[in-house]
Amino acid sequence: MEKISFGRTKKGEEATLYVLENKNHTTVKVTDYGATLVAFVFTDKNGKRRDVVLGYDDVTGYEEHGSYFGATVGRNGNRIANSQMVINGKVWKIEANEKGNNLHSGKNGFNSRMWKVAKSSDTSITFSHYSPQEEQGFPGNMDVEVTYTITENDTVEISYQAKADADTVMNFTNHTYFNLGGQDSGVITGQKLQILADAFTPVKDSTCIPTGEIVPVEGTPMDFRTMKPIGQDIDADFEQLKFTGGYDHNYVLSDKTGEMRVMANAYCEETGIAMEASTDCCGVQLYAGNFIGAQKGKNGVTYGDRNGFCLESQFYPNAVNQENFPSPVVKAGELYTSKTTYRLYLK
Ligand code: GLA
Repeated sequence: MEKISFGRTKKGEEATLYVLENKNHTTVKVTDYGATLVAFVFTDKNGKRRDVVLGYDDVTGYEEHGSYFGATVGRNGNRIANSQMVINGKVWKIEANEKGNNLHSGKNGFNSRMWKVAKSSDTSITFSHYSPQEEQGFPGNMDVEVTYTITENDTVEISYQAKADADTVMNFTNHTYFNLGGQDSGVITGQKLQILADAFTPVKDSTCIPTGEIVPVEGTPMDFRTMKPIGQDIDADFEQLKFTGGYDHNYVLSDKTGEMRVMANAYCEETGIAMEASTDCCGVQLYAGNFIGAQKGKNGVTYGDRNGFCLESQFYPNAVNQENFPSPVVKAGELYTSKTTYRLYLK
């Protein structure tokens, strides 16, 4: 496997970019900083190589920006209301880093850690991290691994496994921003998306904390059961979309975890690149990149709002505090596993 220097962190740690490639020359690049997916390169219908994910040229970009491009997010992806939870009768307080709530586990999230390489081959790499109880404030010391694999059918598979010495939250996600027109092609609002979910979890207000209800998408702009352009209804006069400035909602894929299913399909007409995304998680956050802002990305490209869309497989937001949502708490000593895949093909 090719290894490329990816610069030094502010603390002076050396970051490396690892290149995974299959026989079709579909390439996945990942770095040990944040166990982050940096590039996903595929040949489009005109024979042109397209990198379909947003990212930065070196580790400094990842350290300096708060968009979570390609990041491994944990221990808890998405939000925890009031930055606290009760587990086995004890209150645990974690960092309040967004409007009094916790987003993506705060500033010591997995996305900002240097991970170790536990195993690697030409097509697969496993990163490992030891997360002590003090790191983010969740109960228990945790060992966690994330494996990226590029398969022969141009799928990037992301598998997680973790074990802790206390009952604790395990809700890992990958925060890749996809742009099937290529990372330099501007807004994604014309790209088409289907999400195989009949319901979503509405939010209370602009904090993005769920009300706890599970509401059918039918008859609302939230409905992606039939493929439609992401931008078709994104600015509709619909309270849920006003709260969040465009799609930033959890879709209900199932009421349980553990069964692999297709969660979404996406397509860009200009490049002919299509994507099928699958997961064994019970929910997926559609985030339409509403607040990317103007920033410098890979190869000098300037990104802006809605230049990428995320399909973050997850437990529903604030699930640890919401009794009617599937629980993200895993028992001490129990092995937690989960898998999400993104397959590219031409249509
Ligand atoms: C998630 C959230 C969004 C936003 C991004 C990071 O997708 O749901 O609201 O915070 O992460 O910018």
